[in-house]
Parts: sequence; C-alpha cells; structure tokens
Amino acid sequence: MLLANTPETGGRVNGPRHVAIIMDGNGRWAVARGRPRLFGHHSGARRVREIVTSCPDLGVKYVTIFAFSTENWKRTQSEVAGLMSLFRRYIMKEMQAFVKENVRVRFIGDRLKLDDKLRGLMDEAEEMTQQCTGTNLTIALNYGGRDEVSRAAKRLATDVASGRLSPDAIDEETLPKYLDTYFLPDPDLVIRTSGEARISNFLLWQSAYAEYEFIDTLWPDFTPDVFAELIWNYGARDRRYGAVTA
Ligand code: FPP
Repeated sequence: MLLANTPETGGRVNGPRHVAIIMDGNGRWAVARGRPRLFGHHSGARRVREIVTSCPDLGVKYVTIFAFSTENWKRTQSEVAGLMSLFRRYIMKEMQAFVKENVRVRFIGDRLKLDDKLRGLMDEAEEMTQQCTGTNLTIALNYGGRDEVSRAAKRLATDVASGRLSPDAIDEETLPKYLDTYFLPDPDLVIRTSGEARISNFLLWQSAYAEYEFIDTLWPDFTPDVFAELIWNYGARDRRYGAVTA
C-alpha cells in the first residue's frame, strides 16, 4: 500500500504523491531523426496523456509538468509560435479525454504574456475539469520559479501596504499561499529527462525537500514503464527532512 508522504509518516514512504517533471530533450530527439524540432515537441506532447493516465496505478495523485518556461521566449520566433500553437491545439484536443479520465487540469505561470486565445482555452480547461477528482495535472506555462516568487512578493507587499497583512505574519506558512502553486502539496520527486542535471528555475521554493531523478532518456521516449521504474526507485529512498532516523 502507498503511504501519504508527510514528515508525520516518519519520513519513510512507499511512493511519491506529487511528481514534477522537466520534459527535456524533444529538440535533440527530433534532430537525431533528421526532423524539425517541432516534430519533437509534438511527439513529446503525445507522451503527456500516457504518463498522466498511468498515475492512479502508481499512487501518484499530482503530476506537474514544465511545458514552457519564462526563458523559452528566447527561442526562435518560429519555435515559440509553433509551441504556442501546439498548446492551443493540445488543450482543444485533449480536454474531453482528461474529463473522461477524471483528471483535473490547472495551469501555473504568468498568463498575462500569453495570447488571448490560449488564455481563454486554459480557463476553459480548468473549468471543464474542475469537478474531476482523480489525478491532478498542473501544466506550467510561461512559468519561472524566480518570476513566481517575485510576483508573490509583489502581492504580499500590496497586502502589507493596504494593512491586510502584518509583516510579522510572513513566514513559511503564509508565503506559499501567494505562490501559483497554493493549491498543491510540495513535489516529492522531480524528474528531468535528457541527461541534464539542473532544475532550470522550476518550482524553486516548492522543491526544497524533493528527491531528484536526472535520467538520460529523451522526453519523447519517456514511456509509462520508465516512469513506473522511477516511482519504484523512489520507494526505496529514506526521506528525513533534515532529521535523523534510528
Ligand atoms: C524541452 O525540450 C521542451 C520544451 C521546451 C517544451 C515542452 C513541451 C512539450 C513536451 C510538449 C507539449 C506539452 C504539452 C503540455 C502540450 P527541448 O526543446 O529543450 O529539447 P532539447 O534540449 O533537446 O533542445
């Protein structure tokens, strides 16, 4: 049986409740096949539903995926446009399937920079799936950890300036309520595909105690079997949250 992963369980857990994934390697996967980078992104997008629908059997209740970072705007205009079009089409095409699978979809990141059409589709997807009680899929779109903390600080400062919040009330409990992820538990496991061992500004505050898996597999090759193996590996770890176990 899978146990809840809180420090109260003594730090010994059998499976992660929340897995965050940096889906990297689409471009290299495509180039290795002599195809354009966008072909890799499309192939990567097809993996998402497979992974999400494998979550209930693995005891994973929350999965958060990094789809587009605040730094990704620096890519060529055609790649950015292609990705934005992929996100629009993806939401239009996949949401009925997610409703059927009882998957609740939410987005994190700064939406203001995204176009109206995409923003409207994101709102619709969140609305359509808000009654779903199965896996929680969170898609990070125009997301950056530092950007998120800066936006949270701005809102905190506004609340302090208006007298709604006392500076003394700002602590580790209060601050996360201002983050985009206020509705999520912290990730237990962060996976990055494609052999790069960095976190690239993903869930900086939230991953303070997460376990990490950096694997060589490129995202379009990341099958539910590869995912399951990482979940099983995690079960063997001993999370101590800074404490000592006997
Ligand atoms: C990183 O690979 C991937 C991205 C910047 C985009 C992630 C998007 C997807 C997996 C597809 C769409 C997702 C959804 C939710 C529809 P890279 O381009 O940096 O690969 P590289 O390091 O090999 O160049």
